[in-house]
Amino acid sequence: MEKREQLYEGKAKKVFATDDPALVIVSYKDDATAFDGLKKGTIAGKGVVNNRMSNMMMQLLEREGVPTHFVKELSDRDTVVKRVRIVPLEVIIRNVSAGSFAKRYGVEEGIPFDEPTIEFSYKNDDLHDPLINSYHALALKLATKEEIETIKKYAFKVNEVLKAYFLTLGVKLIDFKLEFGKTADGKIVLADEISPDTCRFWDAKTNEKLDKDRFRRDLGGVEDAYREIFKRVTEGK
Ligand code: TMP
Ligand code: ASP
Repeated sequence: MEKREQLYEGKAKKVFATDDPALVIVSYKDDATAFDGLKKGTIAGKGVVNNRMSNMMMQLLEREGVPTHFVKELSDRDTVVKRVRIVPLEVIIRNVSAGSFAKRYGVEEGIPFDEPTIEFSYKNDDLHDPLINSYHALALKLATKEEIETIKKYAFKVNEVLKAYFLTLGVKLIDFKLEFGKTADGKIVLADEISPDTCRFWDAKTNEKLDKDRFRRDLGGVEDAYREIFKRVTEGK
């Protein structure tokens, strides 16, 4: 399968057409941004880690009953995925306080929750991805009621599967962001990526951050963190 014309370029990935109208090729870049693109940089090797790690997570989730866009890994940076219409929602699940949750509600980072939380942001760069609830999403016609219910069900399932999986690697899954898409035949599938760009991973023993927060917060050791989480995922420990 070969790349045809470029359909889209985002902050971290490019999307190409293929000869099959139902399939596209996603190509992962090393470019990194944070704070709505205000902070820009590159993380050497990030595209490879995110592509390969995301594909492993998507295949694990498929086996556990969550439909995804994944079709086939082509190379270190390129993957064939189903062509979908992205539902313009960022779906965020949290297990432990961190990031914007800690800031918004004035609590410390690192406090475990009794139950995971879910929140939605409206994916809209001009509006800076405002936080919305599911009634707002319905009012804005971003998805139907049934689709929102399906998305919630899949998001919590993803959390159960990934939380347990990462714990076996000595990693706490603090929070993460998912995006869903709709296929031509109207099915909701997990899309975008699952990577250190979109998840917070803390070492279970030391709470060391193994994710993009090292870049966002200028903590140093960014490449090492991506390498370390990738090593654990590929070596299974
Ligand atoms: P937050 O605490 O900044 O709201 O982030 C929650 C989770 O979502 C965290 O794991 C990082 C991820 N995330 C993205 O993947 N993309 C984004 O644009 C933002 C703001 C967060
Ligand atoms: N990548 C997002 C942006 O550039 C935010 C983030 O991941 O922190 O806005």
